Amino acid sequence: MENVDGQVAVITGGASGIGFGFARSFGAAGMKLMLGDIEAAALATAEADLSSAGYDVETFVVDVTDAAAVDAFADATYSRFGAAHLICNNAGVVERHEAWGSLEDWKWVIDVDLWGVIHGVHSFVPRMREAGAPGHIVNTASTAGILGFPGISSYVAAKHAVVGLSQSLFHEFAMENSPLGVSVLCPGVVDTNINSSTRNRPGVDPATVDGKMFTGWTEVLTPEQVAEIVLAAVQAKQFWILPHEHYGEQALANAEGRVAKADPVMPQVRR
Ligand SMILES: NC(=O)c1ccc[n+]([C@@H]2O[C@H](COP(=O)([O-])OP(=O)(O)OC[C@H]3O[C@@H](n4cnc5c(N)ncnc54)[C@H](O)[C@@H]3O)[C@@H](O)[C@H]2O)c1
Repeated sequence: MENVDGQVAVITGGASGIGFGFARSFGAAGMKLMLGDIEAAALATAEADLSSAGYDVETFVVDVTDAAAVDAFADATYSRFGAAHLICNNAGVVERHEAWGSLEDWKWVIDVDLWGVIHGVHSFVPRMREAGAPGHIVNTASTAGILGFPGISSYVAAKHAVVGLSQSLFHEFAMENSPLGVSVLCPGVVDTNINSSTRNRPGVDPATVDGKMFTGWTEVLTPEQVAEIVLAAVQAKQFWILPHEHYGEQALANAEGRVAKADPVMPQVRR
């Protein structure tokens, strides 16, 4: 998808962090913006900000864990813009727990981080295939999709699955010579509101959630830096997007360890 000017970008989790960074960068590149998010107030603030920058933006409150809601989000996109070209399945949450931890924690994270992406692919890709125009899917995974970080096992499992399904989708598009492309985004630490993810957890009072970001860590990127890297990758039809290259090296060592029958590599964050 070389030419993005005038094309329609759809972003889940668009009200905050990386998704909002996407919206600003894609808007600046001339794209029309359809933002979906579960947080109505943050979405309204994002819309006001993007509109005042002169971008053509529409918003829609959507819970990506709900297949019918994501279908309604796609309907709203097509009725407002008549097309969808760049789909960013980006909404995500994290919860800290060990692999033997609470099933409620597991379920919530898998529902948002894996089913949210599945629903996005399911609701948009058939319509894009039917349109037959060039387009692109960006699935937000994480370095947790290529390495086994301890203490966030549901997140690691969901993100590994997103990396896997994105690779399948890549081959499925290639096998039918599709004008559609796919990328998987695997960032390290980005300065967002991810550490207060539980603000969006059903049954939790957001006022009680205190999620400090990883201040002072040397590898922290801004959402805008990540968005520029993603935009360039979409235009180059590049599948793997690893804004923090040191994790690519660790993932390579981990992959070599599979062949050598070594233990998994312990991920190293640059603090
Ligand atoms: N921040 C990081 O260090 C980092 C690193 C790697 C990957 N990621 C991934 O980036 C993506 C974006 O996260 P972020 O860091 O910008 O965090 P964020 O909390 O700033 O943004 C996430 C957005 O997703 C929305 N959301 C949460 N649950 C939702 C649901 N059920 N339906 C619709 N929207 C929902 C939130 O309201 C929020 O606007 C996530 O998939 C996350 O896993 C983040």
